Amino acid sequence: MKIILLGPPGAGKGTQAALLMEKYSIPQVSTGDMLRAAVQAQSPMGIEAKKHMNAGGLVPDNVVIGIVRERLQEDDCQEGFILDGFPRTRPQADSLKQVLVELGKKLDAVISLQVDTDALVERLTGRRTCSDCGKGFHLRFDPPAEDGSCRYCGGKLNQRDDDREETIRNRMKVYQQQTAPLEDYYRQEGLLVAVDGMSDIAAVQQAILVALQGR
Ligand code: AP5
Ligand code: MG
Ligand code: ZN
Repeated sequence: MKIILLGPPGAGKGTQAALLMEKYSIPQVSTGDMLRAAVQAQSPMGIEAKKHMNAGGLVPDNVVIGIVRERLQEDDCQEGFILDGFPRTRPQADSLKQVLVELGKKLDAVISLQVDTDALVERLTGRRTCSDCGKGFHLRFDPPAEDGSCRYCGGKLNQRDDDREETIRNRMKVYQQQTAPLEDYYRQEGLLVAVDGMSDIAAVQQAILVALQGR
């Protein structure tokens, strides 16, 4: 299964990718996660990326395209993958198309998660992520352990630097301007599947699985 998860910040791309990864035994390829790892490692690319990320803007196309191109060639991506947060611009979508032709692969579906703006803000402000295992939580919708630690490994939970209200607003704007047009792009390719992302995590998962049936 080769899938793109498309959707605004907080739509549930990462949450659903983790569930699909288990279901289909294919890796989640999240450009956001890979960029945050580079920021953490303080690599030259990470130092450059951090400026864009903390402002809620996009990291330059050539950087992310390079990362994804390399990642999709790794062994674990040969049977399938879930792209989370990529592509985000028209040039990224065009480059992905070219990379897939080179690799002799075809996308099965582009799942577009539909969530209202108010719900997005609530999801992002309540999000916490484990600093050890990377599992995501929500203070209200997917709560951590009673002592506020990770339910899976007991690790300390952190809030993402870009989940501050002002940065969130800019990320939403950038999404509308640069990424939302990709819905039309993939609709024209016959790949777009819109999924209601407003219900709870399990119900959204079920809707995605139904949408993927027969693809
Ligand atoms: P990225 O990490 O991709 O962030 P994003 O697109 O803004 O999306 P999020 O990760 O914030 O949201 P999500 O949809 O994964 O939601 P989640 O599942 O966590 O990118 C970060 C930055 O990196 C970008 O701003 C940019 O600077 C850079 N970048 C990354 N990719 C790039 C690219 N391709 N090109 C250029 N720059 C790039 O869910 C959110 C919360 O809601 C969680 O707490 C979760 O528990 C909860 N939740 C999930 N589903 C539900 C539900 N159904 N009901 C209730 N709560 C729910
Ligand atoms: Mg995410
Ligand atoms: Zn953990």
